[in-house]
Amino acid sequence: MPVSSNKSDRRDFLKTSAAAGAATSVPYFFSTPRTLAQETKSKNDRITLGVIGAGGMANGNMKAAKDWVDVVAIADVDSKRLAKSNKTMSGGKADVYEDYREVLSRDDIDVIHIGTPDHWHTKPLIEAMYAGKDVYCEKPLTLTIDEGKLIRKVQEETGSVVQVGTQQRSTFNLFVKALALVADGRVGKIQQVQAAIGGAPKSPAIPVADVPSELNWDRWLGPAPAVDYRHLSTGNKNGRGNTNCHYEFRWWYEYSGGKLTDWGAHHVDICNWALKLNGQTAGPVSLGGRAEHPVEFKDGFPVDKDRYNTATNFNFSVKYPGGTEMIIRNDTDNGVLITGDKGRIFVNRRKLVGKPVEELANNPLPEDAISKVYRGMPMESNERKQHWANFLHCHRNKQTPISDVHTHMEMLNVCHLAGISARLGRDLKWNNDSEQIVGDEEANSFLARPYREGYEIEMRETVKS
Ligand SMILES: NC(=O)c1ccc[n+]([C@@H]2O[C@H](COP(=O)([O-])OP(=O)(O)OC[C@H]3O[C@@H](n4cnc5c(N)ncnc54)[C@H](O)[C@@H]3O)[C@@H](O)[C@H]2O)c1
Repeated sequence: MPVSSNKSDRRDFLKTSAAAGAATSVPYFFSTPRTLAQETKSKNDRITLGVIGAGGMANGNMKAAKDWVDVVAIADVDSKRLAKSNKTMSGGKADVYEDYREVLSRDDIDVIHIGTPDHWHTKPLIEAMYAGKDVYCEKPLTLTIDEGKLIRKVQEETGSVVQVGTQQRSTFNLFVKALALVADGRVGKIQQVQAAIGGAPKSPAIPVADVPSELNWDRWLGPAPAVDYRHLSTGNKNGRGNTNCHYEFRWWYEYSGGKLTDWGAHHVDICNWALKLNGQTAGPVSLGGRAEHPVEFKDGFPVDKDRYNTATNFNFSVKYPGGTEMIIRNDTDNGVLITGDKGRIFVNRRKLVGKPVEELANNPLPEDAISKVYRGMPMESNERKQHWANFLHCHRNKQTPISDVHTHMEMLNVCHLAGISARLGRDLKWNNDSEQIVGDEEANSFLARPYREGYEIEMRETVKS
């Protein structure tokens, strides 16, 4: 990899950081452990990447990683997307497959990226770990709380390095800086954290449509129930229309948790990290609130099957031991609000504001504050590119990446609980040790999901000697 280009990236970022940080005098690069640029000096050091699911996010991820990886194999169940992605991301040089298992079976592939829809994360991730691969998998890793238990078990047994695609964890000038303020006690003892994540859209009835000739719909559905493909042209400039397939899968509980997991995976994650840095080590004890869906629900399932069904409006209060509260809502500015007994800060993908931020001008954070939150790992870029650099650095050095499966599951449990509460329309009590909902058999039946025959997750007895 051309070291010089990376150096200039780093210089540009330092320049941007310096400008952004001038008002607050917070240095982003305190420590200088070896960076990926230093580790990837020659062509032979480049890392081979196999990609599963070549949609919008996976293409963005391949771009973010291009300085360090060669894309040698891509799998997708849509042959048009496969061909396009291969052309743009590997100059047509990658091998292409419809069945992702062919990517996993190759010994010449160092790391795997999973960019499939949410209902297709857990199974290939577990199979990739069993195949001895390190994996960068898009968020949210699971559709259910029990899938999280399976992933944690296999990760512990195989020792695979798994980075979750929550790139806010590598955004130094905003989220990591906010967390450094928390860790340094600038907001005091946290009383409340709030994740404002927007609501899902509604759709009209979406008619059953012919499956496009390039798409293997049965394999796109995979573990999800067998249903008809649906599509309605809307004339939107994105050209997607309303569908139960590409991109729009996130508005169907069959394939996603709606906004509660789509954006919850980002902002609830930052809230959870803030609580932990502030000494709140125990998980939640209850979750209550209200949610509205665009269709009627019966026994936790949508009655209408022909339109988007995830929550459009919601407001949940999650209670922690000691009285700390997390709010998850859709109806105010997207971002994270952290309130402590000494002050409050608000952070989103555009800004970090609040009195503790203003006070940095006269009272800067210690030099290593941001680096400490980032566990002293190399910080050479920002946001998505840095998130990849962190994964590849951890792959090289067998370290735990900044968005590991364990912290991801802690916070995703909260998102999934909110989803269960929304679907059933009632409050829930949670036993964080047993990871069970207390005294509610019906709610506990939502901890897992059935898999369509042929798409079950096969667990091995144990793989450690
Ligand atoms: N980190 C972020 O900020 C961020 C942003 C957007 C999306 N995402 C995540 O990325 C994932 C993909 O989202 P998207 O918007 O790119 O979706 P998308 O629908 O554009 O892409 C998904 C691709 O996966 C393919 N696919 C489906 N089943 C497959 C299978 N069995 N094998 C191989 N390929 C298969 C689809 O054909 C499609 O091309 C989601 O989990 C989403 O939550 C993350």
